Amino acid sequence: MPDNDLAKAEMKDIANLSKRRGFVFQSSEIYGGIGSVWDYGPLGVELKNNVKREWWKRMVYRRGDVEGLDSAILMNPEVWKASGHVSSFADMLVDCKDCKRRFRIDHLKEPKCPECGGALTDPRSFNLMFKTQVGTVEGQGIDVYLRPETAQGIFVNFANVVVSSRKKLPFGIAQIGKSFRNEITTGNFTFRSREFEQMELEFFVKPGEDEKWYEYWLAERMDWYLSLGIRKEKLRLREHASDELAHYAKSCHDVEYLFPMGWSELEGIANRADFDLNQHAKLAENGQVLKYFDDSIGESYFPYVIEPSGGVDRAVLAFLIDAYRKEVVRERERVYLALDPRLAPIKVAVLPLLKNRPEIVEMSGKILEGLKAKAMYRAVYDDTAAIGKLYRRQDEIGTPLCVTVDVESLTDGKVTVRDRDTMVQERVDASSLEAIVEAKIGY
Ligand code: GLY
Repeated sequence: MPDNDLAKAEMKDIANLSKRRGFVFQSSEIYGGIGSVWDYGPLGVELKNNVKREWWKRMVYRRGDVEGLDSAILMNPEVWKASGHVSSFADMLVDCKDCKRRFRIDHLKEPKCPECGGALTDPRSFNLMFKTQVGTVEGQGIDVYLRPETAQGIFVNFANVVVSSRKKLPFGIAQIGKSFRNEITTGNFTFRSREFEQMELEFFVKPGEDEKWYEYWLAERMDWYLSLGIRKEKLRLREHASDELAHYAKSCHDVEYLFPMGWSELEGIANRADFDLNQHAKLAENGQVLKYFDDSIGESYFPYVIEPSGGVDRAVLAFLIDAYRKEVVRERERVYLALDPRLAPIKVAVLPLLKNRPEIVEMSGKILEGLKAKAMYRAVYDDTAAIGKLYRRQDEIGTPLCVTVDVESLTDGKVTVRDRDTMVQERVDASSLEAIVEAKIGY
């Protein structure tokens, strides 16, 4: 099979599993969907929340030099003039004069339509921001944009955070939230979506210390993905060539994952220098507040910024792909997701061995209630099939632990805990289950 077909089959496996088990659905599916917009189902929302929580824990809770923020999606449109997005956040596109399909010119190998061979129009600039209107009178609203990055919400709040949190350089502001881009080249499942979520840190440093912090964040961000189980050989850093750099970047590396369609960006780590603060200081009426007063030298200046900017949806996709395993166990295929337990949507499943024994069902119910009592993670109960099938169902969605209750449990108070990856089973006291689960998932 050519490589391409293999790649498609792999992404197809993930898309099929996602739909069938409730990780990801096409948005507005009953209406035929809408291009490159996705909904996260019952398992997907858990996985996505876990990814965001792990990012926040590492970027905020484990440090003392980062504050959080949740800024609005809609902003004063002047923000996007200052940031350069109105003038520069665009793709150069051509249309096929015959079949009318539209392409990014930088994606074409030859100056003709790759679909039908037809002639192409001259290139036109196509801004990627979605526009909408704010106002109460039809036709008299002002044009505003759905933010294409969360970063600007951080820059315009820089002074508010400095003053309210009394932070001194170097320090960062972290934010997770939705962004929107009217992408022309979509596809590869959720990889390039028009509505997506970002996890962004803007880390403000003294000019001159930026190179040092840039190197620090490259290593730190690679380590985050590796620490959550991404295989080392599937992850790399790639430096942007000078003609590839975004309009605001002095330098940039991508953290890339080897997706089925090839090496592709998971996260960009950019040195934005003082571009953004400077721009807002020039355009905003009150922009001079963005200057930082450094009391160690008695001077004011615009800090430089190192920005690790990750895509939540891309991280979720990479974690799913990386965790996907197929193996043959006792002549039967087993599919399982070897997700890090911190990311697994469901942490533990309680499975009664005999559902027609009321005492076993009752004991299973009590165990489940105990696991749910602190409401820290998802624990579920399932008795709708034979035990072998119940295990496979949980394996396929990455549940790290299954607990079975059997006849002996009724007298010795012990249950069987089965590990997803090794399938090793262990008898433990039912009363120690909470501690076992918490140790496994690192809570
Ligand atoms: N803030 C960087 C980006 O959205 O690509």
